Amino acid sequence: MNGAPAVLFVCLGNICRSPLAEAAFRQTSQAAGLKVAIDSAGTGNWHVGKPPDPRAQATALHYGVDISNLRARQIEQADYTRLSHIMALDHENLADIEAAAPRDTTAHIALLLDYVPGREGQAVRDPYFGGDGLFEETWTDVSLAASALTEYFCR
Ligand code: 4NP
Repeated sequence: MNGAPAVLFVCLGNICRSPLAEAAFRQTSQAAGLKVAIDSAGTGNWHVGKPPDPRAQATALHYGVDISNLRARQIEQADYTRLSHIMALDHENLADIEAAAPRDTTAHIALLLDYVPGREGQAVRDPYFGGDGLFEETWTDVSLAASALTEYFCR
């Protein structure tokens, strides 16, 4: 890879799962001294310009990351060449990302949990319509991914 990796986490709304993935990876990569650019986006546009869901903000803050300054955006064509890696939180996100990929795509596109040994092929469950417990589950999953990614990019 030329230069530092640049990772884009992508879910549906960019207000729950991908901001948490961004938060967890920011924390883990910084602690490891890994130089990496980190961003997130949604495949949908319903929440563009909005801060993360209050439940996601509370969960991140509980684990030491303030994500109140993040604002949702939709994935755009330039992301496919600007970022080195685009990571989908679930299978629907992955299919939508792949379907919208321009011909000149250079980013490596994959399911996030494919980077986690033993969790390959699995989705990070959408917590939006669930209870607070689901946000804990989201944090557990994205934290595992953050550690695995840190190891992956450091080696
Ligand atoms: P996210 O969660 O994709 O993890 O940000 C969702 C946010 C909003 C909706 C669905 C999922 N929604 O239907 O508005």
